[in-house]
Amino acid sequence: MQEEIYTLIQAQYPLIYLVTSEEERTEKAIAQIAHKSQQRRVYVWTVTHGIVEYGQPRHTTQHNTVSPEAAIEWVVRQREPGIFIFKDLHPFIDSPATTRWLRDAIASFKGTSKVMILMSPVQQVPIELEKEVVVLDYPLPDLAELNQVLDHQLEQTKSRRTTTETREKLLKATLGLTRDEAEKVYRKAYVTAKRLTESEVDIILSEKKQLIRRNGILEFIEEDETLEAVGGSEDLKNWLKQRSNSFTERAREYGLPQPKGMLILGVPGCGKSLIAKTTARLWGLPLLRLDMGRVYDGSMVGRSEANLRNALKTAESISPTILFIDELDKAFAGTSGSADSDGGTSSRIFGSFLTWMQEKTSPVFVMATANRVERLPGEFLRKGRFDEIFFVDLPNAEERQQIFKIHLGKRRRDIARFDIEQLAKVSDGFSGAEIEQAIIAAMYEAFAQDREFTQLDIIAAIKATLPLSKTMTEQVTALRDWARQRARPASGFVAEYQRLEF
Ligand SMILES: Nc1ncnc2c1ncn2[C@@H]1O[C@H](COP(=O)(O)OP(=O)(O)OP(=O)(O)O)[C@@H](O)[C@H]1O
Ligand SMILES: [Mg+2]
Repeated sequence: MQEEIYTLIQAQYPLIYLVTSEEERTEKAIAQIAHKSQQRRVYVWTVTHGIVEYGQPRHTTQHNTVSPEAAIEWVVRQREPGIFIFKDLHPFIDSPATTRWLRDAIASFKGTSKVMILMSPVQQVPIELEKEVVVLDYPLPDLAELNQVLDHQLEQTKSRRTTTETREKLLKATLGLTRDEAEKVYRKAYVTAKRLTESEVDIILSEKKQLIRRNGILEFIEEDETLEAVGGSEDLKNWLKQRSNSFTERAREYGLPQPKGMLILGVPGCGKSLIAKTTARLWGLPLLRLDMGRVYDGSMVGRSEANLRNALKTAESISPTILFIDELDKAFAGTSGSADSDGGTSSRIFGSFLTWMQEKTSPVFVMATANRVERLPGEFLRKGRFDEIFFVDLPNAEERQQIFKIHLGKRRRDIARFDIEQLAKVSDGFSGAEIEQAIIAAMYEAFAQDREFTQLDIIAAIKATLPLSKTMTEQVTALRDWARQRARPASGFVAEYQRLEF
């Protein structure tokens, strides 16, 4: 990134917009670049102090440069080449006067080797400036930079020399954090354990989970269930099992590509979310849920995009990982048709997300679920976007037996006491979730009467339930018809195939 900024400055780009939440680190990098490019001076503007030369005390502030316009005017008046950093100009940038001042300033920079750098955690560029500005995301520290942080920490704490392997583990554990955050977690791990060795990696990782939690858009999900807790969907489960080791070095050497992602479509309550969550356990990867509702932030233009970008960056930084987007249809519902309703934000978010999916090279497996296919933008369904699109249908009789067994077993009941076949028969049209609910209802009924629940209680509960497939027959039928054409069935594929061939 330093190289890129250096090149832009050498090529006399007048306006660069750096999106970053790490001011100090970014400033330092710019100062180094300035040093490299013929000792240009660096000035920093803030709304609190006005313009101060980089590295100089605050009282040396240039007279009367606190207001954005006065500061820009001051910059225009300078004759020497220089780099002028404006920190957090974004709240002012939408004012017509500021925008105009900026445009005039940029125009006056031609041939002067002056460059303005806008630095802010959110990207906000008025249309008038879009053509003139280069927007760059200042990346989180890489392994080399984290290595410096670790070195510094080890030196300060006079820790004994660490092996390369330990060092690598300590470093990898902090990938995805800002420099400050990395410093903090190393310090905390050291304070807690009085040393920094491999055994402290866990402390660092749990700190990192805390930090990720705090950002609120990504969430670490820990799931106790295994894929065995999902009844039916045999083909889908096999597909997943086959790919258990696909993020290993061995798979790369073998020549396999990294799986990109899968989309699970299906009737509500048929285990889509459950499958997604248990896959992480099966594959031994961390599961990060991306909360699209929280990505959207109407408080400021550009904030939603920045949110998404940050979340995706964080996910990449802890890869290999599974990025779980539940209810993708809801997340991108506004994209088709009603794009104008939110000033096009959802369309832009959708665009950025697709681009990211297309271009990502880091091992982040996207696992998405949806049940309202008609609201899902067509782009998601195009071949090659996901490795596979599965359709999870209502369970058939045999699958319902499995589901009854799973849920009775979960509640530590002897399956032999029940006529599972009969239960499966009377629950025709029920989803997995509805079967589970029927068992729970039967249990409540019996518990209230202070006795153990029986076959009859479950049957009574089933009879008392109107399943979704009956109350929403049209939607369910439409979904099935649609999915049969376009998605791979989660089970029964082999059986159907055999019927065709033999
Ligand atoms: N095939 C199944 N096998 C076992 N349990 C199931 C199955 N399907 C659903 N369940 C039970 O129902 C619960 C809810 O299912 P889940 O949330 O995974 O459904 P979903 O398909 O994601 O539904 P929605 O479309 O409403 O989000 C599960 O946690 C599980 O206990
Ligand atoms: Mg779900």
